[in-house]
Amino acid sequence: MNTSEVLSAQGVDLFYGETPAVRNAQITLRRGEVAAITGQSGSGKSSLLYCLAGVLPVARGEVRFEGRALGVLDDDELSALRRERFGFVFQYGELLPELTVEENAALPLRLAGQRKAEALTAAGEVLGRLGLADLRQRRPSQVSGGQNQRVAVARALVHQPAVVFADEPTGSLDSVNATAVLEEFLSLARSQGTAVVLVTHDAQVAARADSQYAMRDGILSAVPGESP
Ligand SMILES: Nc1ncnc2c1ncn2[C@@H]1O[C@H](COP(=O)(O)OP(=O)(O)O)[C@@H](O)[C@H]1O
Ligand SMILES: [Mg+2]
Repeated sequence: MNTSEVLSAQGVDLFYGETPAVRNAQITLRRGEVAAITGQSGSGKSSLLYCLAGVLPVARGEVRFEGRALGVLDDDELSALRRERFGFVFQYGELLPELTVEENAALPLRLAGQRKAEALTAAGEVLGRLGLADLRQRRPSQVSGGQNQRVAVARALVHQPAVVFADEPTGSLDSVNATAVLEEFLSLARSQGTAVVLVTHDAQVAARADSQYAMRDGILSAVPGESP
């Protein structure tokens, strides 16, 4: 294994019942690499993310994180891996409405057992880097859509995970807001060496990634980039 390799999939198939959703997928991410996956609705992008993140067990093939096959981990080990080493951002942020902005952002640290004061301090730093320092005490319903997505980004990165899985993370925003949030997200991820698997239907966004893939009918293809 290449030591900078953090996540890889080889020959991965996923089925829902008899229906294939992912077929023979192959992808490799190095530390800090941003990989973009584009493709039409229903092509299998989210399903692939679930395989890579160990959310759904694969029917064939292997996903490896830091050289270790996810298939050998039991449920507790997999949950711990997802909680501690992975981060997730979804289309609508999916913050907990009853928690404040800073409590939402601190959640991964709290789940890892960190004391509240320390977790909130760390969350405050990440929120500050995303321009949200003044909104820490508000609830998700009291901030804008773009700010909600920034909080979701803060929550995904606060525990400095090895990989963030982002499933159309700005898909609910207008294009100006989406571009701004995405740039902040990728720059923060890059600054801490976090690899990102970014599902997007925006070709311009994908063009900013280090590597690009296209998904069609469950088949993932690498999109050749410009030679370095
Ligand atoms: N839980 C499920 N049960 C059965 N079929 C599903 C399920 N989730 C997704 N599918 C099907 O799998 C295919 C891929 O879906 P998905 O991964 O959500 O695509 P995308 O994220 O690219 O829109 C689609 O045909 C979809 O209808
Ligand atoms: Mg999807």
